[in-house]
Amino acid sequence: MTVQGDFKEPARCRPDLVIGREELYADARGQLAGGGSVLLHGPAGIGKSTVLRALAAENAGGARTVLRCSATESESHLPFLALADLFGLVLDRVSAGLPAAQRTALESALTGRGESSLQRDGLALRLAVLSTLRALAAEGPVLVVADDLQWLDSASAELLGFAARRLGDTPVQMLCAVRTEGQEYDRHLRACPPDTHAVRLGPFSRSQVSALLDHRGYTGLSRSTVRDIHRTSGGNPLFALELGRALAESPTRPRPGEPLPVPTSLRALVLSRLGMLSDEARRTLLVASAGARPTLALLHAAGRDQAEAETAQAAALGLLTTDPEDPALRFAHPLISAAL
Ligand SMILES: Nc1ncnc2c1ncn2[C@@H]1O[C@H](COP(=O)(O)OP(=O)(O)O)[C@@H](O)[C@H]1O
Ligand SMILES: [Mg+2]
Repeated sequence: MTVQGDFKEPARCRPDLVIGREELYADARGQLAGGGSVLLHGPAGIGKSTVLRALAAENAGGARTVLRCSATESESHLPFLALADLFGLVLDRVSAGLPAAQRTALESALTGRGESSLQRDGLALRLAVLSTLRALAAEGPVLVVADDLQWLDSASAELLGFAARRLGDTPVQMLCAVRTEGQEYDRHLRACPPDTHAVRLGPFSRSQVSALLDHRGYTGLSRSTVRDIHRTSGGNPLFALELGRALAESPTRPRPGEPLPVPTSLRALVLSRLGMLSDEARRTLLVASAGARPTLALLHAAGRDQAEAETAQAAALGLLTTDPEDPALRFAHPLISAAL
């Protein structure tokens, strides 16, 4: 998806309420204000996409062009897909100015119509991506927002990395997020400019977990319950929300000292919620999980006649999130589509 800087929301508008993360913000803001790039990393559910969206919303106002991509696991084998997402809507603006060999290679790679491959057109493609970013930057600052870098197709990662290393003072900044369990974010830095600042998201404190539960309507929990949720979730906001939900749905409250009424792993938590869907609704979600940006229209076209009601059921269960500005359906978390 691509948005012109001119049509963005006001710079300070934040789509999500973001709890905590003050130090990380100060750090990332400083880096972005100085023209640098930022890579957020941490485990599933820790809050990377939330912070990425908020920082992108804050910084989009200062960019002439915002290029976005959000990779998915099921499509990570498709070459050039991330680049097609990034450049899809802007290519027309700059392609006429590209040398012919670069234009042909890039167009055939991004439309999937030609025979382009990294092996065959390696140099032309690498130069084309660099030229495209330079041409866009000549019109004004460019912000590249890329989520879930761990699923970026390898061809796009290679081409982006090649360009990023050669951009020098060209005003192209990257704001990325990648899922990591440990410290293995380094290899993802290769898709980013050399001065990229990597920031790890740590767990929430107990009071932040408490604020999160409150904000999502899980109010009136005793201090000891909040303490249990904080401990069991390890301060992971997604896990804390799942635990809060399981507790709210449980007919009996645990007595003090009793363990929380939850399955032992998040996967089990997700599965238990999926189990509440009808078979047909689950099948519809499965179809949705196969697309990068599934919409109701697409589900209808795929023969899912009851898509409205079924996705509404999934949204009510917290499996899908909807955005009035965007017709694309979003899974509340990648683990959900992975568990289907
Ligand atoms: N700082 C935060 N403030 C409020 N909610 C948060 C925050 N961080 C995470 N969450 C919530 O926790 C869940 C997981 O966050 P998400 O950003 O999707 O994690 P990740 O991208 O790291 O997997 C979401 O429901 C999100 O709204
Ligand atoms: Mg995410």
